Amino acid sequence: MFGFSKQAVELETGRLFELLSRVGWTVQECAEIAPTTLRIKELAAQQNAVILGHSYQTPEILFGVADYRGDSLGLSRIARDVDADTIVFCGVSFMGETAKILSPNKRVLLPNPDAGCSLSESITGADVRRLRQQHPDATFVCYVNTSAEVKAECDVCCTSANSLAIVEAAPTDHVVFLPDKYMAQNLAKLTTKRITGYDGHCIVHEAFTADQVIKWKRRVPGLKVLVHTESPLEVVVHADLAGGTGDMVNYIRASTDTNFMLVTECGLAGRMKVDFPDKRFVGTCAICPHMKRVDLHRVLQVLEDPRPDQIVEIDATTQQKALRSIERMFDWTERKLDPTRPHSNPGEVTGAP
Ligand code: 13P
Ligand code: SF4
Repeated sequence: MFGFSKQAVELETGRLFELLSRVGWTVQECAEIAPTTLRIKELAAQQNAVILGHSYQTPEILFGVADYRGDSLGLSRIARDVDADTIVFCGVSFMGETAKILSPNKRVLLPNPDAGCSLSESITGADVRRLRQQHPDATFVCYVNTSAEVKAECDVCCTSANSLAIVEAAPTDHVVFLPDKYMAQNLAKLTTKRITGYDGHCIVHEAFTADQVIKWKRRVPGLKVLVHTESPLEVVVHADLAGGTGDMVNYIRASTDTNFMLVTECGLAGRMKVDFPDKRFVGTCAICPHMKRVDLHRVLQVLEDPRPDQIVEIDATTQQKALRSIERMFDWTERKLDPTRPHSNPGEVTGAP
């Protein structure tokens, strides 16, 4: 298929098998996708395109074709700084939008523009304008999991990696944190600032329970439980680390422990099994249906012949206003971030293996 030599396909099969066998793939399964991953990389090279994969993507995306894998903040930095004409964002729509806001002159492609996010869909720009009238004294901080329109109405943006640093850097004592209810509650426990939340939820993280964590802690002695801060407080209190996906990767990388439970989307455990084959990942995780809307065939198609709805476009006024929010995120905290501090770090990104 695609005219690659037998030797090239065998080499690619071997490369894939070395990585994907760590999550149960057979040689035959790797051989089946090898021509597709080769063709995707060939098209990306021809178009000077870089492929970004959020840690919740499938192992075949993260280790088959992505040039970088990481959290939403780390990938935003790459989208801003990388020398490329095109960015293919394997993630959900707000991530592609963020990349376009940061790099309006690059072509940003979404393999599946229907990959939404329950948080981002929970609030509109009109909601923010209404809230501003109710809280004129507050700094409005919006989580990166929001539309460009919402970012444009807020003062500053943040991600799970730097949320605490941003709240602490806000010039007012009162902060309206949008839209994740649980992240706002979790932040309120860490800061002396007065936090007003909103009623947005992540459909994946809101479903975790304290009972799941307690059972696994009993079952596996020495288990380290890492919980995403989009989860309810009753789960977070049992965590050895509460943070974003990048905080979890940094913790695992630095840890001498063996057994981990990642209370987050299942893609992260898949990625960690490949990145850290000597560590063990057990317990409960949950699938984000939006993240799993991206697959290799869509990545191939978007590079071969993108449909108009797969090319991210944002009107110039919204782009400029949203950019101000994202630039403030970088400006307010850049010198205060520390890769070892949850909620106060520069994000995590790792290049292709
Ligand atoms: P991170 O910012 O931790 O990468 O997470 C993004 C996300 O969608 C979490 O559900
Ligand atoms: Fe959105 Fe939750 Fe999916 Fe992350 S895991 S993209 S917050 S729905």
